[in-house]
Amino acid sequence: MTRRTIYMNNAATSWPKPEPVIGRLMWGVTELSAAPGRAGSPALESERAIFEAREEVAKFIGARDSSRVVFTLNATAALNLAIGGLVRAGDRVITTSMDHNSVARPLARAAEEMDVEVVRVTADEAGELQATQILDEIDDRTRMIILTHASNVTGAIQPVEEIAEALSAREGSRPLLLVDAAQSAGVLPIDVDRSGIDLLAAPGHKSLYGPQGTGILYVGEGADPVPLMEGGTGGESTLVRQPTSLPDRYESGTPNIPGIVALGEAVRFIGDRGIDTIRAHENRLMGTLIEGLAGVRGVRLFGPCRPDRQVAVLSFTVEGMDPAEVGTYLERTEGIVTRVGLHCSPHSHRTIGTYPEGTIRVSPGIFNVDSDILSLVRGVERLAARRSR
Ligand SMILES: Cc1ncc(COP(=O)(O)O)c(C=O)c1O
Repeated sequence: MTRRTIYMNNAATSWPKPEPVIGRLMWGVTELSAAPGRAGSPALESERAIFEAREEVAKFIGARDSSRVVFTLNATAALNLAIGGLVRAGDRVITTSMDHNSVARPLARAAEEMDVEVVRVTADEAGELQATQILDEIDDRTRMIILTHASNVTGAIQPVEEIAEALSAREGSRPLLLVDAAQSAGVLPIDVDRSGIDLLAAPGHKSLYGPQGTGILYVGEGADPVPLMEGGTGGESTLVRQPTSLPDRYESGTPNIPGIVALGEAVRFIGDRGIDTIRAHENRLMGTLIEGLAGVRGVRLFGPCRPDRQVAVLSFTVEGMDPAEVGTYLERTEGIVTRVGLHCSPHSHRTIGTYPEGTIRVSPGIFNVDSDILSLVRGVERLAARRSR
């Protein structure tokens, strides 16, 4: 990809990465060697750098105790740990029709192999849900509620705060709340302790602008997932079984040291820029995008189409054209990178009526500017005009 490419597939992974993040990644590769707890002073230096990154992430998501932030490979690994480590045979799990395959597939296996009852609450055509739709489904067997904070297909923001508050107010035992923050971490304010979110899964490589191969799972006090991976943790080596101390319990093997320290830098970068500033920028781009595409004949938009009710993700189709054709045209002729298809979220497309063809998804980020949006709108206009000739 060249710098002249207009990249608007930030919902898959953000690009370009900020210079300080690249700098820190290079520093991690060149200067940090041994894994934490493994050998002498190089290991100590890695340990310190990873601790700083963990503290940075914890502060960013409102976690008092940074040891509850577990570094993972991506959001998928975090979601698998939360689901696989906590859901037991015969449990009931409430999820939504806007979930990603990284939630839907582990649940499908749990349903098939462990007789787990999966209740998939259906969103409306824009991908939006009411908190009561979820809360009304809770019964004594409900182990977990899984919410996609913001849809990766329509951008719709789900009522996470409202549901978390209602759960915190419940007396006696209550289901755990797992939030998939893949599309919200870095663009919507998140405060796990204040909100009462039990588990939060987030990728480092999307709106946090960290490198690929990074993600986190926040594990709250009320949750104790069984580790899905066991092995060397650098310390407590006399223990026969996996240690119970955090975060070692969930971080076996040599970690992605450069990636983790770069993620810490990325979170600092996003924090310095400010969520409010980022959100205002993306909302402005989204306003222009929605208005521009809505005016093109033959284009159909999906989602709330209201920047205040969605993140910077918009799906659309062009009448009579396969989304893949549109995506190829945009990339080859206009130099604009989008993403087409089902976006690993088939249930979402069934919900909004675009299954199995899918949509063209545009997801601008912090480095996109107004002219990028205008270029896309003009490109789609040209294609639609050519088509109707
Ligand atoms: C809503 C949602 N959940 C989970 C994921 C998985 O993220 P990762 O690629 O970091 O595993 C994605 C990525 O597209 C997503 O959009």
